[in-house]
Amino acid sequence: MLVHLIEERQSVIGDLETSIRAALADVTGAYSICVVSDLEPDVIYCAKTASPLIIGLGEKENFVASDIPAVMRYTRRVLVLEDGDFAKITAGCVQLSTLSGQKIEREVYPVTWDISTAEKGGYPHFMLKEIHEQPQTITDTLRGRITDDFKVTLPELRFQTSKLLSFNRITVVACGTAYHAGMVGKSFYEHLLRRPVDVQVASEFRYSDPLVDSKTLVIIISQSGETADTLAALREAKLKGATTLAIVNVVGSSIAREADEVLYTYAGPEICVASTKAYMTMLIVLYLFGLYIAQEENRMSADIVAAYIADLTEIPRKMAAYLKDTSALQELSYKLATTSSCFFFLGRGVDYAVSMEGALKMKEISYIHAEAYPAGELKHGPLALVEAGVTVICLATQSALYDKMLSNVKEVKAREGIAVAVVKENDAGLDDRTVDAVINTPATDHDVLMPLLSVVPLQLLAYYIASALGRDIDQPRNLAKSVTVE
Ligand code: G6P
Repeated sequence: MLVHLIEERQSVIGDLETSIRAALADVTGAYSICVVSDLEPDVIYCAKTASPLIIGLGEKENFVASDIPAVMRYTRRVLVLEDGDFAKITAGCVQLSTLSGQKIEREVYPVTWDISTAEKGGYPHFMLKEIHEQPQTITDTLRGRITDDFKVTLPELRFQTSKLLSFNRITVVACGTAYHAGMVGKSFYEHLLRRPVDVQVASEFRYSDPLVDSKTLVIIISQSGETADTLAALREAKLKGATTLAIVNVVGSSIAREADEVLYTYAGPEICVASTKAYMTMLIVLYLFGLYIAQEENRMSADIVAAYIADLTEIPRKMAAYLKDTSALQELSYKLATTSSCFFFLGRGVDYAVSMEGALKMKEISYIHAEAYPAGELKHGPLALVEAGVTVICLATQSALYDKMLSNVKEVKAREGIAVAVVKENDAGLDDRTVDAVINTPATDHDVLMPLLSVVPLQLLAYYIASALGRDIDQPRNLAKSVTVE
């Protein structure tokens, strides 16, 4: 499309560079492009917005790529283009300007890392890189799905609205981290849509003669789109006559191809076995889809939907600010790495769903036993295990349940367990008499959106502890990124 637009402009304007600028002035969305033409065979024109583009500066040669590692075998001097930058590149020269033609300069960035660190963008592990990429992946996943007046638009869905509203039941099916994303979805949908939602582990669903039929919407969640049990569950749901909607990261994967409908997450490639940014974008798609149903069935006024969306669009900025300085959490994690023999993660409501993901991250990469519990169940068993050396992470981000969580914290302290509270910033209700440590997260206006922000310190807690213990963080023992066998 873009090439045709450039060609069209060129047939009127004549000059290639001016034509490319004119074409780009008329397009919106994310792109990073290189244009080559037999009109100027020695020149590469490039431009970017939202997607990455770098230029490697060589001796009598220059390179264009989407990422630094691609050019590292040829040069260590790199220009990183910013949104709206335009470049004219020949073998001997690089000229940078804005899209409208104003000359600009970008600092030449000397690459000092080796290739493997470069692939990690300078981070010691893919996991830390991927945690830090989350604000951008949220922006990427929201892009094109929110209108200027803060409505949800999901153009990729082929559902008739009447069909979408005809389901009397939603069943979410997934494995691992994707299952935990589904648990957050359940809280949100039941709260927002007042519709029953059940969430099932795919390996159980496929063998359970599942109770789904043509009135059921089955939402299948998978980062890879290839998990064997999840794929089998999708096929089982279709056999039973259910309508299937896949939330998938890998474009063109088996689950994406076989589901009736697909909503992609835009997390980009996730390398670390333990999922972080894919989980984050699964949550975003789940929230968007829930808001979309609420909007289409007029369950809520446009103002209320818009308030949720405004809150969602603020998350990347808040998360990025939080990620700028995590030194206090790192210090706490290093202490806990030496003092904790096991972890419990407690929460109520949507905090419980996040606790499950926090506990999974901890066991996957630190190899310390970690278990999530609905906080009210503490007294029904796990409390017998609480003693010195047992750390209990209490999530208390839900205003309506805050006091209940405080009483859990006290129960832990009274048994000499290590009590760590995860609360919204500016929480004044806790001090070192009630709790051993406090982890603050940025706040959202809607408590039900808090998982987006409260999961980040839990990912980092697991990461820092695993790092202190010298674990193989990106490839934990016995685990695989994509489980394509039963
Ligand atoms: C494996 C991975 C997990 C992932 C799960 C489901 O266990 O180690 O990180 O959550 O599979 O994978 P999927 O690709 O279906 O989301």
